[in-house]
Amino acid sequence: MTTTINRFICRIRIAVILSIAYLSLFTGAKAESLTDLTGDIDKGRLVFAQCRTCHYPEKIVGHHNGPNLHAIFGKIAGKQADFDDYSETFKAAQFVWTEELLFAWLANTETMFPETTMMSLGVKDPQQRADLIAYLRRFR
Ligand code: HEC
Repeated sequence: MTTTINRFICRIRIAVILSIAYLSLFTGAKAESLTDLTGDIDKGRLVFAQCRTCHYPEKIVGHHNGPNLHAIFGKIAGKQADFDDYSETFKAAQFVWTEELLFAWLANTETMFPETTMMSLGVKDPQQRADLIAYLRRFR
């Protein structure tokens, strides 16, 4: 008796999982969470090319038009010594840069910090953001 019920429950579970997979496949729903994606460092280096006009991730080179991004994850935003062009928003910021936060910001640079002085449209493609973050993570 219990095995029949267990089998029945098991079938329902499989049906639910399959229909979710089917739905996400056919609605074209993209993974929007960093944890669902695996970043590719080499591809990330290419995605970062657009940031390089303003940022260096290598510590030794220092700041550019934008602040240096060496070991950025774990740093408090807007507080790097000797970078003088932070916006008021970033100067007053109290948050710590995490990979998830950068992932969210680059998806929507216009709305998350509207007063930022960073002239970038961000990176719309989630996989490219994950690649870029995998690349940046190396510099620490
Ligand atoms: C045209 C120049 C420019 C481009 C392109 C640019 N940035 Fe920036 N970035 C800035 C400036 C200026 C700031 C300071 C923003 C502020 O204070 O509002 C900044 C700030 C940042 C910060 C916060 C640093 C800190 O110390 O808090 C991160 C992280 C960052 N940028 C990542 C990126 C990434 C990743 C890209 C590429 C997708 C990129 N930026 C493209 C100019 C740029």
